[in-house]
Amino acid sequence: MKLRAALLSTAILTASAAATAEEFVIRTDKPGAEIQPTMYGLFFEDINYAADGGLYAEMVKNRSFEFPQPLMGWESFGDVKVRTDGPFERNPHYVSLLPADHPHKSTGLSNEGFFGVAFRQGEDYRFSVWARSATSRPSKIRVELADPASMGETQVMASQSITIDSDQWRRYTVNLRPSETVAKGRLRVFLDSSEGCDLEHISLFPVDTWKGHENGLRKDLAQKLADIHPGLLRFPGGCIVEGTDLPTRYQWKNSVGPVENRPLNENRWHYTFRHRYFPDYYQSYGLGFYEYFLLAEEIGAEPLPVLSVGLACQFQNGDMKAHVPVDSLQPYIDDALDLIEFANGDTSTKWGQLRAGMGHPAPFNLKFIAIGNEQWGPEFPERLEPFVKAIRKRYPDIKIVGSAGPSASGDKFDYLWPEMKRLRADLVDEHYYCPEEFFLTQAARYDSYDRKGPKVFAGEYACHGKGRKYNHFNASLMEAAFMTGLERNADIVHMATYAPLFAHVEGWQWRPDMIWFDNLNSVATASYYVQQLYSTYKGSRVLTLTLEGRPVTGQNGLYASAVTDSSTGGYIVKVANTSDAPSQINLRFEGLKTNKPLTTARAIILNTESSAANLSTTDDSNPLLLDNTIEHPDRIIPREMTLTLKNGANILPITIPAKTFGVYLVR
Ligand code: AHR
Repeated sequence: MKLRAALLSTAILTASAAATAEEFVIRTDKPGAEIQPTMYGLFFEDINYAADGGLYAEMVKNRSFEFPQPLMGWESFGDVKVRTDGPFERNPHYVSLLPADHPHKSTGLSNEGFFGVAFRQGEDYRFSVWARSATSRPSKIRVELADPASMGETQVMASQSITIDSDQWRRYTVNLRPSETVAKGRLRVFLDSSEGCDLEHISLFPVDTWKGHENGLRKDLAQKLADIHPGLLRFPGGCIVEGTDLPTRYQWKNSVGPVENRPLNENRWHYTFRHRYFPDYYQSYGLGFYEYFLLAEEIGAEPLPVLSVGLACQFQNGDMKAHVPVDSLQPYIDDALDLIEFANGDTSTKWGQLRAGMGHPAPFNLKFIAIGNEQWGPEFPERLEPFVKAIRKRYPDIKIVGSAGPSASGDKFDYLWPEMKRLRADLVDEHYYCPEEFFLTQAARYDSYDRKGPKVFAGEYACHGKGRKYNHFNASLMEAAFMTGLERNADIVHMATYAPLFAHVEGWQWRPDMIWFDNLNSVATASYYVQQLYSTYKGSRVLTLTLEGRPVTGQNGLYASAVTDSSTGGYIVKVANTSDAPSQINLRFEGLKTNKPLTTARAIILNTESSAANLSTTDDSNPLLLDNTIEHPDRIIPREMTLTLKNGANILPITIPAKTFGVYLVR
């Protein structure tokens, strides 16, 4: 899908150059810093069921029976035994289905999926299982997609049989095509013979995944990522990189190789918030580092893996005993070096060979690696230092991303920035989940940053409205306003990623988030569209844009930035009007070549003006505090219009409505 934009009539936002109009002067003859290809990217973390139960298209929960209660997510009936001497060393559990003791009884299992097993009428779903017959005679299973709540003649929406014709472990697959769409269905597996059988790694995927990969991703969700045209994909988090404790940190080596043998990891977000508690939240690692690299490649983003620095989450582990001593970091450093080999090594190397065996002989061309997430105190730089030395020694071209800790100012932040300079980190990751005021006052944040030190990675940010910590248009407008400051400072800000990315409507721990989904649908928020507009129209080089000689960083509630666009030879101006009144502005383009006057202009506008029509009669809320939802996905979407330039004067008169983000494309 391309950028969604409804067409508006041309006249609405084109003002005649009124005497009271403000004048934004854009110098076209002195382009400044290049906008880095990595400038606008994505932050992916398995929080809010973003991976298992979300982007990772597996529909079976606890497919390998490795949850601490091996039948969590399953209901068993008849004679089902859990055993632990299965074919996969790191996932030893499996189930034996033993024949029932009466012809009218049955043995089997039913999986509840992630908030239900959802399937669509007429689409194909690939069921697969590792199985063996209990004896040398064949056994048989029946597999069903069912709707237990169905009021119709049958609960069964699709059914297939599999003959298990060997007493050796083998993989069997069959496709199921449901007769109805069901949001909260079940996968049922029945023993259908007098011979018993053993089952392991019971899996169900839509056949139609993103790019058709078998161990694939949900197509609608991956497509939404691609539609942002991101320049960067940071993975796998976030706090899950650190873990609730060291054993539960994300270990990339466990996330590669055959999926059946990737060991389960506890997801730290199942504990973090007791008021949003999800005791069944685990990481199958089915979406692992190979899949992340592949996704990055397929959406055109530079991969940015983040690895543990040997510190467990410092919010939850005050005791230094919880962390790796500095002199014991070698395995962690090896993880970083081996990861670079996994991504870039040729096929004669150990890890390059593994990558090739997984289907990608060509290198992934990794350029960046981040070590540590939200760390702080002297314990961070003293651990980061040996990583930096080892990586620089073996891979001098890899750029290293350090961290400024969990907040955008304060003692921890002030301590870490000089430390990151001392260690010569290439980029420093800053995080800010802050209220409106922060975003309104920080548009000039980077104007005064030291240009000789590391570059900035605004690695996690989102407007968390004061008393309104949920998605709404006003928060996205704050983000748009603030981002003009990122763009103006593109010489030092090289990466920026809104966070978090995904949230399941029934399984979220943290909000706001950029994309929401249930098991059948997904919706882009207003913040998504802000990110998409910046990324799609990121342009090529920064231009100076001034109001009365100064950058536009909040005067009269206005924020603005401008860039060249080498793909069209034109210019892109972004303006956020955060005030309560419409603003008349003349965009004056100075320094144009006389033989190249401006001829065309259009605008893409994001505001709530169209949302009134989309409110239900029971919904009398303030549109500024609304967002798109699964039920109303198009309340707030970008709308496109053509504009008229002032004849021969290289001026574009615009009227930007109150509470509006506008992108103006001129050439
Ligand atoms: O994005 C959610 C969390 O916020 C991340 O895991 C962490 O880095 C930050 O505290």
